[in-house]
Amino acid sequence: MLSIQPWLLAGTLVLAYLLFTLGCYHKRVRIWRHQPVLNSGVPVNIVAYASESGQARALAGQLAEQTGAPCLTLNELSPAMLANCRQLLLIVSTTGEGDAPDNGRLLLPRLAQADVAGLSFAVLALGDRHYRHFCAFGLRLAAVLQASGATPLFPTVCVDQLDPQALQQWQQQLQQLGLKMATVPPAGSGQQAALTPESLWRLQQRQLLNAASPGAPVYDITLQAQNTLPDWQAGDIAQLRIPDATGGTVPREYTIASLPQEQQLRLLIRVQHYPDGRPGIGSGWLCQQAQTGDSIALGIRSNPEFHAPAARVPLILIGNGTGLAGLRAHLQQRELHAADSITAGKNWLIFGERSPEHDRPWRQQLEHWLNTGHLQQLDLAFSRMDQTAAEPQAPDQLSYQAGRQFIHQGYVQQVLSHHAGKLQQWLAQGACLYVCGSRNGMAAGVDDVLSEILGEQQRQALIGQGRYRRDVY
Ligand SMILES: Cc1cc2nc3c(=O)[nH]c(=O)nc-3n(C[C@H](O)[C@H](O)[C@H](O)COP(=O)(O)OP(=O)(O)OC[C@H]3O[C@@H](n4cnc5c(N)ncnc54)[C@H](O)[C@@H]3O)c2cc1C
Ligand SMILES: Cc1cc2nc3c(=O)[nH]c(=O)nc-3n(C[C@H](O)[C@H](O)[C@H](O)COP(=O)(O)O)c2cc1C
Repeated sequence: MLSIQPWLLAGTLVLAYLLFTLGCYHKRVRIWRHQPVLNSGVPVNIVAYASESGQARALAGQLAEQTGAPCLTLNELSPAMLANCRQLLLIVSTTGEGDAPDNGRLLLPRLAQADVAGLSFAVLALGDRHYRHFCAFGLRLAAVLQASGATPLFPTVCVDQLDPQALQQWQQQLQQLGLKMATVPPAGSGQQAALTPESLWRLQQRQLLNAASPGAPVYDITLQAQNTLPDWQAGDIAQLRIPDATGGTVPREYTIASLPQEQQLRLLIRVQHYPDGRPGIGSGWLCQQAQTGDSIALGIRSNPEFHAPAARVPLILIGNGTGLAGLRAHLQQRELHAADSITAGKNWLIFGERSPEHDRPWRQQLEHWLNTGHLQQLDLAFSRMDQTAAEPQAPDQLSYQAGRQFIHQGYVQQVLSHHAGKLQQWLAQGACLYVCGSRNGMAAGVDDVLSEILGEQQRQALIGQGRYRRDVY
């Protein structure tokens, strides 16, 4: 006769297993909903982001709000947090050519020392398929975390230009973990989150600043608001809708050089060219095609990563070419608030271009700031300067009433090496470093020289403290 006991035993075991699984599931839901803190004081769950232009930050902010988890930048994740936190949700974009955004630059080097064996993670990687290295940083981050011993909750979700379907897939994956989730943002809403409503502006003035330069033409472009002037601050970015050949528009971003107090929006734009010599869509339209009086739709993107330091500290501004736009905005803002205890402080500008004769954008204003002492020091580096012919000594030092100007042959990173002692003095006084302009040539060179002068640890500490900020492209 068939005994019923083995069936009963098997049934009981299956039931017990199901109850156990259900229990685990509810426990996980409880963990997510109540956000307990471990004995170490580290939250069980953390949402972290790396974002260059605000989209990943906006999505991470929403997720953190809905889950009650703290929202940190990748740079803020210490090895201790990584070792103690249980689940990490990461929303990161890719910038440059497959690079990490600045507020995520520190995590990968840190992972080598972190114990992440007890950590589960998921990555939402924002990117754009037009770039060669699609979502490269998010994918690299997931690979390094896994190779270091952390466990992926599910495969990395790659998002092309905030594609709503991919965002929905991410949400569904999180829901399967028991997370209470946001509704899917409509297409492009992440992008809009950081933008002021678009408004119409008129091209008021356009001035060529570097006639006969060995480089491509650079224009000072002034736009006048057709309606109410929106608000912005130094570091913010203008996103312009440029008319293209097909009757549509394409977005292009430019760092704003002026402040609303000047009642106009100024841009410093270099004409870019295709290999066949045609001008670029955005720079060509703005610098050559548009006529005075023409209208253009423009929104302003807040760029907190490049906003002024919160305290009254000395500022070292470093840049090249059109990067002077962002540096001018900061100098202008600090002059405007010279009497404030918050935004004032001494200023040192290190700026690089090609020719000392032809590439002197906003020379009068910079020399005025030297004369009044608003600029304590101005270093100009010219890569195409004929040292023997043009300058009797290198560097050439010119004294102004209140400040000093040095003219060097070479690049801004070499100027930093030359003034290494002074750089360290300023940093010891709490100075912040702000870098604006070319990502690859200039900003990468400055990064290397800072590591050489200060050591890798201090360079990373400056990034972590928000004292080394960049707007580079
Ligand atoms: C945050 C941010 C701030 C920026 N601020 C400024 C600014 O203040 N001033 C400014 O002039 N630009 C700035 N740019 C660059 C600007 O957004 C455009 O990328 C640039 O004007 C070229 O666009 P385009 O439409 O003219 O060229 P496209 O039509 O897109 O390209 C035309 C040709 O130019 C080449 N090209 C495009 N960009 C570059 C480049 N940087 N170097 C070399 N070749 C290039 C392309 O490969 C192509 O062959 C900024 C970019 C970012 C992301
Ligand atoms: C200058 C620049 C470089 C970029 N480089 C890449 C890239 O290499 N790979 C990629 O997939 N996306 C790239 N992108 C697209 C961004 O990752 C994408 O727009 C993302 O949604 C931006 O998110 P964020 O605002 O959080 O930085 C780049 C965007 C810009 C403006």
